Amino acid sequence: FQTKSLRGKHLLITAGPTFEPIDPVRGITNLSSGKMGYAIAQAAWQAGATVTLISGPTALAAPYGVRRIQVQTAQQMHDAVMAQLASQPSDVFVAVAAVADWRVANASNQKLKKTSDSDTPQLEFALNPDILASVAALKNAPYCVGFAAESEKLLEYGAAKRIKKNIPLLVGNIGHATFGSDDNELVLFDKNGHQHIARADKLTLAQGLITEIAARINK
Ligand code: C5P
Repeated sequence: FQTKSLRGKHLLITAGPTFEPIDPVRGITNLSSGKMGYAIAQAAWQAGATVTLISGPTALAAPYGVRRIQVQTAQQMHDAVMAQLASQPSDVFVAVAAVADWRVANASNQKLKKTSDSDTPQLEFALNPDILASVAALKNAPYCVGFAAESEKLLEYGAAKRIKKNIPLLVGNIGHATFGSDDNELVLFDKNGHQHIARADKLTLAQGLITEIAARINK
């Protein structure tokens, strides 16, 4: 692993799930441990980059050397990413977070009461911003890397998602039991096709991904 490949670069990374409140004690979220995003932040720091990690709620400690900003909702994550990009240009943006596609539009400021055995609350949803698409659409956008967690047809959907998101590199997770697990396997999609990073622990995979990102931005 080349420890100087990202020297002088700044990486901005999102990780973890987002949490969208229903009321002060309830909410909806996505399954994500944050482990892959945190491993990428760690590997980027090992490669000599300065790293800002914008994280939804996880049980993980901030990786050594990495500046972490903690958020809860997708809107907060979006705003933190945009504020960070406005204050410090990033060379690379890696969107690893499992962002909730919808938030609860009629969230309550008070705990919802169970008033009867038959009535249930009626939740309404509003669309959250697509953080990766917002960053990719910026003029002077950093080199954008997206993730895809598909449950089927990854090779087909991955290539299509990269083009739809208008990003140079998209990373697919292979296998179904990746949430919270320490091992994974990746497939990278770029304009030339796709390539695999063999099954390994997440830090090794992250180092492989950082090597591939560095090769592309230093070209
Ligand atoms: O379209 P889909 O949600 O599958 O795309 C996943 C990629 O987009 C991931 O890189 C994820 O971090 C990013 N994303 C985002 N904001 C959203 C939804 C997804 O940044 N609201």
